[in-house]
Amino acid sequence: MTVNETTGNETTVNETTVNETTVNETTMILGIETSCDETAAALVMGGYDVISSTVSSQVDLHAQFGGVVPEIASRAHLDLLNPMIALAVVEAGISEERIDAVACTVGPGLVGALLVGVSAAKALALTWDVPFVGVNHMEAHLYAAFLEDPTLEFPLVVLLVSGGHTMLIEMRNHGEYRMLGQTIDDAAGEAFDKVARFLGLGYPGGPAVDREAMHGDSEAIRFPRAMLNEGLNFSFSGLKTSVINHVRKHPDVSAADVAASFQAAVVDVLVTKARRAAEQVGARGLVLGGGVAANSLLRERFLTVCTDAGIHGFLPSRELCTDNAAMIAAAGWHRLRSDGPTALDAGAYPNLRLPLL
Ligand code: KG4
Ligand code: ZN
Repeated sequence: MTVNETTGNETTVNETTVNETTVNETTMILGIETSCDETAAALVMGGYDVISSTVSSQVDLHAQFGGVVPEIASRAHLDLLNPMIALAVVEAGISEERIDAVACTVGPGLVGALLVGVSAAKALALTWDVPFVGVNHMEAHLYAAFLEDPTLEFPLVVLLVSGGHTMLIEMRNHGEYRMLGQTIDDAAGEAFDKVARFLGLGYPGGPAVDREAMHGDSEAIRFPRAMLNEGLNFSFSGLKTSVINHVRKHPDVSAADVAASFQAAVVDVLVTKARRAAEQVGARGLVLGGGVAANSLLRERFLTVCTDAGIHGFLPSRELCTDNAAMIAAAGWHRLRSDGPTALDAGAYPNLRLPLL
């Protein structure tokens, strides 16, 4: 097995062979993502080079129910996955024979939705006689930033904020993660979704609050910043309750002011703790990931905080922050290189956790 060399800012990846699978800069991986309500396929070469990426969002299908309906999600993945894979291959301008491995999210997520992707990925790997790689969705979110900035250096702190998770992770190296802090109750995205629903702003909640907040006053209401001055854990459930109590007490309050003030409280806590985490571990970089990283105020404040603290901050594009298959293919490339192919009897794991040191 050849060893990878890291030279300064530039990562030189030599050829690595694990379990007779050769992984190098030209290894082309098809990534598949079906863990929630996005059906996505992508082709990524050498772990960093996105050749094509297609995403079909099921938002409209679930909007009338105010949340993702698992059974509807699974059926939609069944209808959409093959066209998405075909589109990714066509957009890449390659033939299927060029694909060296198939990587797919195996968890965490909705079990029925995951199974659609896992079954398709295994079937394609068998048909094409190439390795199958099971990917942890959370690990893939950590890799999204590398697709746009392959020069990121370790130790890196990632603020991962999605509908199900709010975490500060220290990436010490590829595959080496330490949990620095996480939410003790609601995830940040969950708080956005619940507040949006309460305010009648529609679904999905995050983008709805973001839009409404644009014409509100973020200082109109001083909502609590829970645990702001202590440690690296988060708590958002009290904030959601405060919003509800405030609106019940002041029924004529402007929804835009509530949205802006709520968003400011969430973002204040997120950026304060991200900065604290980066300083504590002496991080060489700080990056954002997960769906909430699409939030306009968070993006703005994140960059300001990084500049103020003299930390190298990197903000992936919105497309890479939300669920996509390019990040799955990227994480799959790193996993294939370190662990080799995943056995075909692997299943779907709805509660899969990030592997920690
Ligand atoms: O990572 P993601 O696409 O799916 C998972 O949860 O894995 O994240 C979805 C979450 C939802 O809670 C959604 O409301 C939130 O990200 N979100 C946002 C914005 N866009 C999406 N939250 C705040 N502002 C946004 N612009
Ligand atoms: Zn996600």
